[in-house]
Amino acid sequence: MTIQFSTKIFPQADLGSQKSLKSSLKSLLAQSTDCLILAYSKVDLDGFGGSKAAKAKSGFLAELDQLLGGSVNHANVVGDLDSKQASICVLRTEKTWATNGVKAKRVLLVGLGDLQLASERTLILYSKIARAALKVLSGNAIKNAIWFVPSFSLTHQGSFITDEVRLTIQYAGDQAYRFGVRQPAMKFKVKDSPDTFKHLVFAGNDACSKELKEAVAQGIAMVEGMNLAKDLGNLPPNICTPTYLGKAAQGLSKKVSLKVEVLGLKQIEALGMGSFLSVTKGSDTPPQFIVMRHQGGKAGEAPIVLVGKGITFDTGGISLKPGEAMDEMKYDMCGAASVMGTMYAAALMKLKKNVIGVVPTCENMPSGSATRPGDIVKSMSGQTIEVLNTDAEGRLILCDALTYVERFKPKVVIDVATLTGACIIALGHVHSGLFSDDEGLVNALTKAGKASLDTVWRLPLDAAYHEQLKSNFADVANIGGRPAGSVTAACFLSRFTEKYHWAHLDIAGTAWKSGAAKGSTGRPVPLLLNYLIEQS
Ligand code: BES
Ligand code: MN
Ligand code: ZN
Repeated sequence: MTIQFSTKIFPQADLGSQKSLKSSLKSLLAQSTDCLILAYSKVDLDGFGGSKAAKAKSGFLAELDQLLGGSVNHANVVGDLDSKQASICVLRTEKTWATNGVKAKRVLLVGLGDLQLASERTLILYSKIARAALKVLSGNAIKNAIWFVPSFSLTHQGSFITDEVRLTIQYAGDQAYRFGVRQPAMKFKVKDSPDTFKHLVFAGNDACSKELKEAVAQGIAMVEGMNLAKDLGNLPPNICTPTYLGKAAQGLSKKVSLKVEVLGLKQIEALGMGSFLSVTKGSDTPPQFIVMRHQGGKAGEAPIVLVGKGITFDTGGISLKPGEAMDEMKYDMCGAASVMGTMYAAALMKLKKNVIGVVPTCENMPSGSATRPGDIVKSMSGQTIEVLNTDAEGRLILCDALTYVERFKPKVVIDVATLTGACIIALGHVHSGLFSDDEGLVNALTKAGKASLDTVWRLPLDAAYHEQLKSNFADVANIGGRPAGSVTAACFLSRFTEKYHWAHLDIAGTAWKSGAAKGSTGRPVPLLLNYLIEQS
């Protein structure tokens, strides 16, 4: 456990009403904490006498100033309070504080900006504010902090609180994340030392206590799911093999109420997954087909099915990739990792839905037994595929998984894959690519993305693009040339999804970061969880 989150309710605490202001502040400041985190807006600062005035007037900052024996005023006089978005001011304990019963060692004041402007009341702005505040907690002596949620509300309406709190936890989790600390396979030394910061308490009042507790529980589960996804992604490909992923899934079934089944080579052969098997042929390590079930809904309820691409290393096969940054192809199982992380989190939050996670996993290697460009293989659906490029392997393993999941009579199927380099060219590292003909599903996923700031952008899937996949020798070719490479990849998959509602997420640009910050992002776990929560 790297960081702990909890809630504490101060029933009457309200910094917005003049009447309860003093008692609210008193009760918050009386907590023994390394840091009490409060937010203030331009209106609060104006009430305090504007940015230049040295004398305290009325409102939240004035009351705080009184209880802190003039500390707020000092900060203002030297220019540390400017109410700009995400500006930070840390007040540190002084002798006078104790005389007013203040036990907090620090008060962190965060600027919300000018909330009278509707344009500033967005989740994106909140995310900047939250990140700035969290940064103060990292890398110094602060071990624990209290975050007073109502003072951060940009809307002063309940609706926003849930997204805000989950996002704060997500970012705190990102900040606290260290590679390898949870994975027993990592016998070698973990490079980064953990932060001293260990415990974040979300404080609320009666008006938001129910939402707050729920959001914190969801956020905690989400961080666990993201940590799992990040760890699996970051693990080296000599450790994180298909067998390792299978064992990791089985390990989850011992921690939470997931039912896990792992099929091996013989069973995959028996299912007739000739397309999946064609990818694994050059590898010495056996493929696995993982099925994870979370039964949180009614017995007969149609499940939501998540399918994740699990290529534990993608060399390109005989259509070998160039050497530069090839190590990053260990991340080609991030679709699988995000599905496993989401399933784990769904089970942790006891989500009231039936969800099934499916992961076809293998390595894409060149060898004397590897599939050649020009080989024709038969998929589980019966369609024959001409493999014109062995590097377009993700769709070859996914298509059989997409046929397999028909047996679940799913409500919807969402596949997640680091599918195409072309998606990075189209959308960069900001949005994941979203492909679907189902408007309802497109809207729901787009909304879930915005609410978690794990966003998607829709790309087309028209019939016209299918032309590029024509083969002279088989039912379909596995590549459609360079133009619209992400779209033709999605079109290929769509040929195997006719029996249910389906969406495809191409996370090639969003699943990990390259360069100095190289590492798995845990995306799109927040998006998927947000979608699942909204469905239940
Ligand atoms: N895993 C890659 C896609 C990828 C490449 C993701 C780089 C992230 C970064 C996928 O298997 C692949 O190699 N796709 C090919 C398809 C092409 C051969 C049609 C690609 O994108 O070049
Ligand atoms: Mn490839
Ligand atoms: Zn790949």
